[in-house]
Amino acid sequence: MLTIAIAKGRMQQDALALLARAGARVGAEALASRRLAVEDESGGYRFVFVKPADVPVYVEHGIADCGVVGRDVLLESEADVLQPLDLRINRCRIAVAAREGGRGGRPGVLHVATKYPRVAAAHFGARGVPVEIIELSGSVELAPVLGLADCIVDLVETGRTLAENGLRVVETITESTGRLVVNRASYQLKAEAVGRLVRELSRVLADGAEVTGAGGGAGA
Ligand code: PRP
Repeated sequence: MLTIAIAKGRMQQDALALLARAGARVGAEALASRRLAVEDESGGYRFVFVKPADVPVYVEHGIADCGVVGRDVLLESEADVLQPLDLRINRCRIAVAAREGGRGGRPGVLHVATKYPRVAAAHFGARGVPVEIIELSGSVELAPVLGLADCIVDLVETGRTLAENGLRVVETITESTGRLVVNRASYQLKAEAVGRLVRELSRVLADGAEVTGAGGGAGA
């Protein structure tokens, strides 16, 4: 049996829709429940639902053989996991954003609020821009509005959250989509099962362009 860690939240529905088409289908009853670990109908897979940032942790430690998580999370994580497939779900970007009409005008070091401290530090570091990173865990768009930061580095999917809070993209840092990640040991020790999953997912991806779940949410 393969254990697959799924990032809860915006990616979950599309990840499960894609996996179902690849032969790993969770029954409606299990999906409707609040159970955090469920088996698929074939008995070949067990799914565990965890916070996005915890997916690489479970996979690196081999508690989960595989995982589905955004590239944004992987860039921020230092986990040593294999990334055999771009699943092309939940397409979005990591961007620098600031208030409409400027970066706020505070002199000196640029204050950057973000859930992605490593990505943000690397981005500004590479440009030689001195910054102070202010790490937040959510609702990052509030920081420039309330004067906590000059700008933010955050995920932009539809752009709605930025627009509705009077912010605009200053610069795109990188694109992000959902990825299949695999534990290094599982890749060897469960080569047949992992290989089958990768093959089936590749076939599904080749069949249909973008995969969207029942409720949509795959992004633009
Ligand atoms: C993410 C991100 C933005 C928003 C972008 O937050 O941090 O806030 O989604 O989406 P949009 O461009 O479609 O508006 P999330 O919903 O994960 O919640 P959080 O702010 O609590 O992290």
